[in-house]
Amino acid sequence: MDREQHGRLDELMRDPYPYYARARTAEGLTHVAELDAWLVARDADVREVLRRTEDFSSANALRPDVLPSPAALVALGGGFGGRPVVVTSDGERHQRLRAPLVRALSPARVAARVPYAAERAAALVDGFVKDGHVELMSGYARRLPGEVIGRIVGLDPADVPVVVHGGHRAEELLFRPLAEAEQLAAAQDVVAMQHVLDRCARDRYARPREDLCTEIVASVAGPGQDELTLDQRHETVAHLQNLLIAGHLTTTALIGTTVLHLMRHRSQWELLCAEPERIPAAVEEALRHDGPLQGFRRITTRPVTLAGTELPSGAAVFVAFGAANRDGSCHSRPDDFDITRTPGRHLAFGFGTHACPGAQLAREQLRITLEELTRRLPGLRPAAGHPVTMRPTLIHRSPRKLHLTW
Ligand code: HEM
Repeated sequence: MDREQHGRLDELMRDPYPYYARARTAEGLTHVAELDAWLVARDADVREVLRRTEDFSSANALRPDVLPSPAALVALGGGFGGRPVVVTSDGERHQRLRAPLVRALSPARVAARVPYAAERAAALVDGFVKDGHVELMSGYARRLPGEVIGRIVGLDPADVPVVVHGGHRAEELLFRPLAEAEQLAAAQDVVAMQHVLDRCARDRYARPREDLCTEIVASVAGPGQDELTLDQRHETVAHLQNLLIAGHLTTTALIGTTVLHLMRHRSQWELLCAEPERIPAAVEEALRHDGPLQGFRRITTRPVTLAGTELPSGAAVFVAFGAANRDGSCHSRPDDFDITRTPGRHLAFGFGTHACPGAQLAREQLRITLEELTRRLPGLRPAAGHPVTMRPTLIHRSPRKLHLTW
């Protein structure tokens, strides 16, 4: 993709909603050149694709927008991974990779982690409450989800910053047009993260603990070996890296975008401060109205017809959860952000076989965040002189920075 194409894609990513609106009212599917895919935008069509897993494979779900430079690829060769992961797998392999995640992120196990998440959220707010201002993304939103998922996986807390940073760098490397030197630096940061994950995996194979890393290692390598084979180390790191990135970047983005919309709708923020029992409904509305994961790709496994459009085998579709969530046939006044609406069936966490196993964990972290902020900082407002821009991404939609004061 050249710079000009990236520019057009950035524009779409910063505000995809006009594209979605056109695609929802068009006959059949719309091919969007910027996405290099057919845009699936209506709620019913999105659900149909997600149901027809034999016709629509997930193999291309994470297709990068950028091919790293040769030097970056050499650097990446010093790391681990490069194996299909849960979100890009189909059929039996998908089920095998998904099973330990569903167990570890069950409602009961997530509930057991809520006190830790609440304690960390309070400590992060303690860290800036006396300052009278904060840049929320770096001071809070980029920190809480990494600490929480790091704890669930079983990372040493000292390793969490390297892993969080590595996750952001992996996204930049694969989805942003970086200069050559910057690509190499990003690749090195990704490899540093992978070595931390490999160390954790090998340690848990030798000394199992009650954590998700142990469960993932056990699902990749049965008992009875002296140590993990090289292939098992690659598979485990790919699995862990995918889980961590899926777990923290999305939740970071959700926290940022939700607070941004509440700041832009002052009366709704004030209502939430006065009536915090509305927080669960506000969480659902934030997910519906402007969720972080706007869409993922699928690829047709055979010629298929969808919404009256005939697609050949190997056609890429972009399944836009964010477009379905603004479908007027399912949600009244779909473009309005309104925390008082009765939550409906949104698709922010997907649907069907690949539906997000971390949904409960993400919801709890946003709930805890809103409880903390409404209770302790009801005077929260945007800081003057810091206009907000959205990050150009369809998978972790969020403000770049969010300067707030009180
Ligand atoms: C606001 C936060 C989140 C959003 C909006 C979100 C959204 C989604 C969506 C839409 C999918 C379906 C992808 C598809 O159909 O191809 C998905 C899958 C997934 N999510 Fe989340 N997610 C969030 C948080 C989390 C968290 C906290 C975790 C882990 C702790 C997580 C782990 C995963 C994994 C592993 C998958 C792949 C599941 C599979 O392929 O079977 N997510 N997520």
